[in-house]
Amino acid sequence: MESKQDVESGSVYNDVLEPERELLLPSRSHSLDSSEALPTTATQYTLVHLVYAFIGGVALCIGARFLLDISTVVGLPQGDLTVQAPSYPGSTEVHHFPPASPTNVFPDLFPTSVGYPGGTPTGAEPALIATAPSLPIQVGAAQLVPPKIHKHIHSAHDDVEEEVKESYHHHEAERPFNLFRSWGNLSPWYSVPRGAFGIEGTAEPPSGCVVTALHLLHRHGARYPTAWSDYGGPAKFATRLHESATQWEATGKLAFLNEWTYKLGEEVLTPFGRQQLYDLGVSMRLKYGFLLKNFTETNTIPVFRTESQDRMLASALNFAIGFFGYPFEGQYQQLITIEANGFNNTFAPYKTCPNAKAAGKADRSRPYVRQWVALYLADAQERLSSAMIGKAGVQGEFEWTVEEVFEMMQMCAYETVALGYSKFCELFTEEEWEGFNYALDLTFWYDSAFGSPVARIQGLGYLQELVARLTHIPIATHNSSTNATLHAPETFPLDHALYVDATHEVVVLNVITALNLSTLAAGGPLPADHIPNNRSFRISDIAPFATNMQFQLLSCASTPTPQIRIIINDGVVPLHGIRTCPYDAKYGMCPVPAFIEAQQETILRTDWTWGCHGDWEVPPGSEWNTTTGEPPQA
Ligand SMILES: *[C@@H]1O[C@H](CO)[C@@H](O)[C@H](O)[C@H]1NC(C)=O
Ligand SMILES: *[C@@H]1O[C@H](CO)[C@@H](O)[C@H](O)[C@H]1NC(C)=O
Ligand SMILES: *[C@@H]1O[C@H](CO)[C@@H](O)[C@H](O)[C@H]1NC(C)=O
Ligand SMILES: *[C@@H]1O[C@H](CO)[C@@H](O)[C@H](O)[C@H]1NC(C)=O
Ligand SMILES: *[C@@H]1O[C@H](CO)[C@@H](O)[C@H](O)[C@H]1NC(C)=O
Ligand SMILES: *[C@@H]1O[C@H](CO)[C@@H](O)[C@H](O)[C@H]1NC(C)=O
Ligand SMILES: *[C@@H]1O[C@H](CO)[C@@H](O)[C@H](O)[C@H]1NC(C)=O
Repeated sequence: MESKQDVESGSVYNDVLEPERELLLPSRSHSLDSSEALPTTATQYTLVHLVYAFIGGVALCIGARFLLDISTVVGLPQGDLTVQAPSYPGSTEVHHFPPASPTNVFPDLFPTSVGYPGGTPTGAEPALIATAPSLPIQVGAAQLVPPKIHKHIHSAHDDVEEEVKESYHHHEAERPFNLFRSWGNLSPWYSVPRGAFGIEGTAEPPSGCVVTALHLLHRHGARYPTAWSDYGGPAKFATRLHESATQWEATGKLAFLNEWTYKLGEEVLTPFGRQQLYDLGVSMRLKYGFLLKNFTETNTIPVFRTESQDRMLASALNFAIGFFGYPFEGQYQQLITIEANGFNNTFAPYKTCPNAKAAGKADRSRPYVRQWVALYLADAQERLSSAMIGKAGVQGEFEWTVEEVFEMMQMCAYETVALGYSKFCELFTEEEWEGFNYALDLTFWYDSAFGSPVARIQGLGYLQELVARLTHIPIATHNSSTNATLHAPETFPLDHALYVDATHEVVVLNVITALNLSTLAAGGPLPADHIPNNRSFRISDIAPFATNMQFQLLSCASTPTPQIRIIINDGVVPLHGIRTCPYDAKYGMCPVPAFIEAQQETILRTDWTWGCHGDWEVPPGSEWNTTTGEPPQA
């Protein structure tokens, strides 16, 4: 998860973080090979563990075979005990690439340019959005391997089909189960099902309209887990596993744990995440390349913005390679804003907004998520605990907590987007994956979107920037998260036909809330005891890895007034939740002046000082709620 707390690893949490970081993450600069990287304690654990497991295993084979189908009960390598010890359960495995001082580097022999490029004439810019009868569909993740997910799992030892139990969720027929779309903010972005947000039309402009400009706001691609997380966190799971390695033997579907190591880094983009941004860049060039003509006509180049975090910069540059090709130098200018405490930054508003880090204000999802997870994972907790054989040779004696079971589900998502495949995925049923997806909806609803008292305030800065661009009038007073220094005409142009900004999912959600895209909040506060039917707020749809919001400006033959549409992951979002926008069920268009009027109203009504520094309090849990992402008024 990447809630506002874990986007940053702010000082507040460093105390919490340090022990875990030390155990699991040997310093990156310290060059070790993988076997050396294992802490010495791991070796001790493992020897004890091996001997113990062997004895325990023999006893169990005799004692427990009748009770269970545990043919794979002993997680030891078959036969040979003198063989190199298997990897140590839960220990961290790190391969430091590139080496700090490789011995075969000869820059003189490998010049980066040797001339003779051959012919280089370019052609016309693509304009899929205008020329194709329909737009390409992003189906997800060609490079990742989906495991087989069973509808029902009888026990951790087999997949016997069970009678369908009474279900607390309603399976929507138009959304067949898809594991990769069941990971909330950890899902790779996909084109949402047609009509997902309530507008039938697709992203191509209505006939008679042409796109005149595009404002793109996108998220970084798939990353390793963040340094800190409020609930769960794969690193915590690895630590528990590692620290308890002498106390258990895993069997059945969990047997792989006996030799499993933790292979995830922290924070940075994964190879797949890199591809997502490259692909997004390519797809945007194919759809909107024609907007570059405006730059040629005015003898200018575009300005794109991202911020300083490694994955944010890497995402922006991968987008640029996709969009402009290599080398992109000279084709655009990349503004890199600073994400750090105390720096005004519309892409990291929590860095200057104390209430966005305050207990009880920023972390309102906690009781909801805990309640829901305890409910939807009760069966899985029992099932997976029964696959563990405890120290005394007793099956189920070693118990997983529900939080740890939740961490295993996170591990599935993280390992898949980092390593391409994960054994953790097949431990869970379709229904459990839908429960996981919903746990993330709860998390972000209450922490970053319509249910959070600090959501709108954090979206305010981007809203002001959007209005400045739409009106071509610079921001008069920098009184939110905007940074006046970066609003010079060179760094913040107001007359371009293409803007590309990169940020975090929490900020995308803040912006969605601030914009008042309230049809996404239909149904009100999300309940913690069941998944509502046909909910419109789905994090996997609106804030997955590489999520992208296209603000299309249109010129239509039928009216002299320019129009705006908002398209999230290829789905058109209704704008009529915005007070001044008409109901356009077919295309989701709103006249630009009306759109601006409402956003200016929000800007006037939203006070950064109150929202971020105000001394307001809200009672915990469901005693108090918001569906507009606002704190109580003064
Ligand atoms: C604004 O951005 C500039 C450039 O990144 C930075 O040096 C400055 O400290 C920022 N100002 C504030 C108030 O954050
Ligand atoms: C913040 O500045 C904008 C102009 O940039 C202004 O419209 C708005 O009223 C100001 N907000 C407050 C709370 O003063
Ligand atoms: C940074 O934000 C604060 C709070 O909105 C504002 O008072 C200040 O002028 C901003 N600084 C710059 C350089 O924009
Ligand atoms: C970009 O060019 C198109 C076609 O010439 C024009 O209709 C549109 O207004 C231009 N957009 C901007 C923002 O200049
Ligand atoms: C769910 O569907 C019903 C019937 O179509 C509709 O009235 C309701 O508004 C929908 N709820 C949401 C949250 O979209
Ligand atoms: C925002 O949405 C609420 C309903 O959720 C509505 O009452 C309010 O007028 C809207 N404000 C604007 C500026 O669109
Ligand atoms: C949210 O708060 C409103 C107003 O206090 C209340 O009427 C409503 O029942 C609450 N909804 C939930 C789901 O708690």
